[in-house]
Amino acid sequence: MKLTIPYTPKTADYFPRLPAHVAIIMDGNGRWAKRHRLAIAKGHRAGTENLREIIRHTSNLGIGSLSLYAFSTENWSRPPEEVAALMQLILDFFASEIDELDAKNVRILILGDKEQLPEAQRETLLHAEERTARNTGLRLNIAINYGGRAELVKAAREIATLAASGHLSPGQISESTIAEHLYTAGQPDVDLLIRTSGELRLSNFLLYQCAYAEFLFPKKLWPDFSVQDYDEALMTFATRNRRYGGR
Ligand code: IPE
Ligand code: IPE
Ligand code: MG
Repeated sequence: MKLTIPYTPKTADYFPRLPAHVAIIMDGNGRWAKRHRLAIAKGHRAGTENLREIIRHTSNLGIGSLSLYAFSTENWSRPPEEVAALMQLILDFFASEIDELDAKNVRILILGDKEQLPEAQRETLLHAEERTARNTGLRLNIAINYGGRAELVKAAREIATLAASGHLSPGQISESTIAEHLYTAGQPDVDLLIRTSGELRLSNFLLYQCAYAEFLFPKKLWPDFSVQDYDEALMTFATRNRRYGGR
């Protein structure tokens, strides 16, 4: 008989330092489904199963912000059945998790354009944001219908509107002006970006916020990425030498 000893997640004092903002590109659900000879929707569902533990652990460690890439502006080009399965998962995820997230003082923010989503999803996401708006714990950013370039276009339009109406002169526009017009306004830059499944690209995620992020590309497919893998990633981050262009 094979005995598996359950993993005990590390506590914050184990790490020499922790990131203030972690971003995760949760990739590999499709390959996971294929490997297990399951329908693609099952792969996406499996991908939400470990999500609960990852969020809980992030909150317990006292990390300030966690940004999760759930659905990109480019993901609309997938087959309609797959898009429908992902849209259903959004509803299911919030129905099952919102009570615990709220009880854990988590503040939810959706990154991306909610207007283009079906009404049920839009309502669910708005409700989750409103219900948790006064919470002061982990800032949980979930990117849905999100694109980094679209976010920069949105910021440019807002800033141009302020300039055109005389509320801001072009010379006053600084890096922080741009940051203030991103979805993540008021939150620190990404310190650690994790992309599972071995793909080595950003796929239009948090382009501005990742300027000095440390990148980690674990091979594991997202549904297999465990709290133990996450702790290992956080430990690797702690050993990185961040120079920001200096000596
Ligand atoms: C990531 O898994 C989830 C979403 C993009 C919604 P994928 O579905 O991209 O998985 P692979 O890359 O095909 O394995
Ligand atoms: C990025 O993964 C988007 C999400 C994980 C939600 P994709 O699988 O869509 O990205 P590409 O197509 O490999 O760049
Ligand atoms: Mg993928």
